[in-house]
Amino acid sequence: MGSPAIIFGAYSPSKTKKEQFYKDVITGLKSMPKRLSSKYFYDAKGDKIFQEIMNCEEYYPTRCELEIFSKKTSEICDAIIGEGDGFDLIELGAGDATKSSYLLQYLLDKKVDFTYLPIDISQNVINYLDTNLPAKLPGLRIQGLNGEYFEMLKQAASLSNRRKVVMFLGSNIGNMQTNEALEFCKTLRNHLSEGDMVLMGFDLKKNPKTILAAYNDKEGITKRFNLNLLERINRELHADFHLSKFEHYPTYDPETGACRSFLISLEDQEVTINDKEHIRFAKDEYIYMEISQKFTVLQTEQIAESAGFKAIDCIFDSKKWFLDAIWVAE
Ligand code: TRP
Repeated sequence: MGSPAIIFGAYSPSKTKKEQFYKDVITGLKSMPKRLSSKYFYDAKGDKIFQEIMNCEEYYPTRCELEIFSKKTSEICDAIIGEGDGFDLIELGAGDATKSSYLLQYLLDKKVDFTYLPIDISQNVINYLDTNLPAKLPGLRIQGLNGEYFEMLKQAASLSNRRKVVMFLGSNIGNMQTNEALEFCKTLRNHLSEGDMVLMGFDLKKNPKTILAAYNDKEGITKRFNLNLLERINRELHADFHLSKFEHYPTYDPETGACRSFLISLEDQEVTINDKEHIRFAKDEYIYMEISQKFTVLQTEQIAESAGFKAIDCIFDSKKWFLDAIWVAE
């Protein structure tokens, strides 16, 4: 039911989004060092390439967490079920809910009293979940919330005063700088009440070669994924990046656990964006694209404690490469 303003396009969210994209790209490419925000990887083409990454041999995190959700479902259920009181199961950045569906099915089979509230920044994702999940999982109570995580968490709290269990999977927490990750967990705690829970996915430190390979697959899918952001800037912001003049360069530092992706300029060059911004690249200059932080179990417990949670359970895959940690708000 659109209001006339929406029908006549007086308010166009896509335009505002594009303006923000433009602003962020220009700011990032004028910074020293140059950087691009990883949230812009995921346009329609980026989503497709990311699916390919998740299916490639070297990229283990998705498979590990899927193993946890499919094989350790009862353990997750036991940890979050509490005293058996009804609860809201909230998922931040639900995507297609492949992993969580295992848990949802299990909770339904056990006749647990819960409502699933997926939160996603994409309206498409929410529409998809609202229409498809109830058909796939009969009896599921679901209410999708489209918007920013913390705004939607506030809304979730205003919808019901039941206990909350918040899932943040896929080691998404690792895509923030360490200090930002801690701030995020503190903010999350501030949006919850004592006794509420968090189920947080962490990719763990492991053999550095295994980690680096996951971000440097043989087929070059990750390379295409990174270059797609330049292509997206060309398409949407009228730029003239020559993709062949940039090279994907991933690094992993076993000391800090930081896995980073860069694009390296292969020559001195200038890129023009929207006919008015000229960005110079020196040969060998890099654009910082993304961090994927890897953790020790101890570090995850320290984050929990500093943010006001108590870590109550650790659920690992069989290789112990990935951890779904369960925290309770104190
Ligand atoms: N951010 C996700 C991760 O840390 C997705 C990802 C995989 C990614 N490979 C990438 C993001 C390369 C940027 C560059 O696993």
